[in-house]
Amino acid sequence: MKPRDRLRIAVQKSGRLGDPSQDLLARCGLKFRQSRDKLFCFGESLAIDLLLVRDDDIPGLIADGVCDLGIVGRNVLAEQQAAVAARGETPAVDELRPLGFGRCRLSIAVPQELDYAGPSSLAGLRVATTYPALTAAWFAANGVDAKVVLLKGSVEIAPKLGTADAICDLVSTGSTLVANQLREAAAILDSEAVLAGAGVAPNDERGELLELLLRRIDGVIQVRE
Ligand code: PRP
Ligand code: ZN
Ligand code: MG
Repeated sequence: MKPRDRLRIAVQKSGRLGDPSQDLLARCGLKFRQSRDKLFCFGESLAIDLLLVRDDDIPGLIADGVCDLGIVGRNVLAEQQAAVAARGETPAVDELRPLGFGRCRLSIAVPQELDYAGPSSLAGLRVATTYPALTAAWFAANGVDAKVVLLKGSVEIAPKLGTADAICDLVSTGSTLVANQLREAAAILDSEAVLAGAGVAPNDERGELLELLLRRIDGVIQVRE
């Protein structure tokens, strides 16, 4: 990894975590030269810059060393870690702090009429999800043989379309499930926004910036609790 003297944080460009992520950094005293809708925000108060990206890209940007940190849903980070682990490799990106916002859960949901009595009720069925590694790991852990079908969006309509028998997707208020005549059968991961970073901290100027930022984040979170 090239030595750099500025720390770079990846945050979600749009979507549920975007604004609260930037609000948290603002409360940590970070100020940026550019407006919130730009892709790159130059840090003015500290040598910490932002890259605004798709949330799914955040773990990879950290793993590749493009960014040092990211604010991302645990669901996205855990999926990347599970995919890496499934390849027999060691995940290079860690959860450094839970951040206390964006709470939701990754759950198996089934059509109202499906009798769900436990994971084995899903044996032999097709389960649509955007989280194939976490879903497959949950089935493996429960000793159930089900077929995981990857869908990048609109997962909740798959049972109605007949492309899957059940789904594994994020549940927050539960209204998406209700609107699609689905019910939550099992939560497989509790999620919230987390600060993610490389397993090994940078050993140049960025290391000190990271320590400073972590102290400020801890302070902001403590005040909030
Ligand atoms: C998530 C998830 C559900 C919805 C659940 O999608 O995929 O569709 O939120 O929330 P609810 O329980 O409050 O209805 P999101 O809107 O984050 O976007 P995406 O599916 O387009 O990524
Ligand atoms: Zn996404
Ligand atoms: Mg959705």
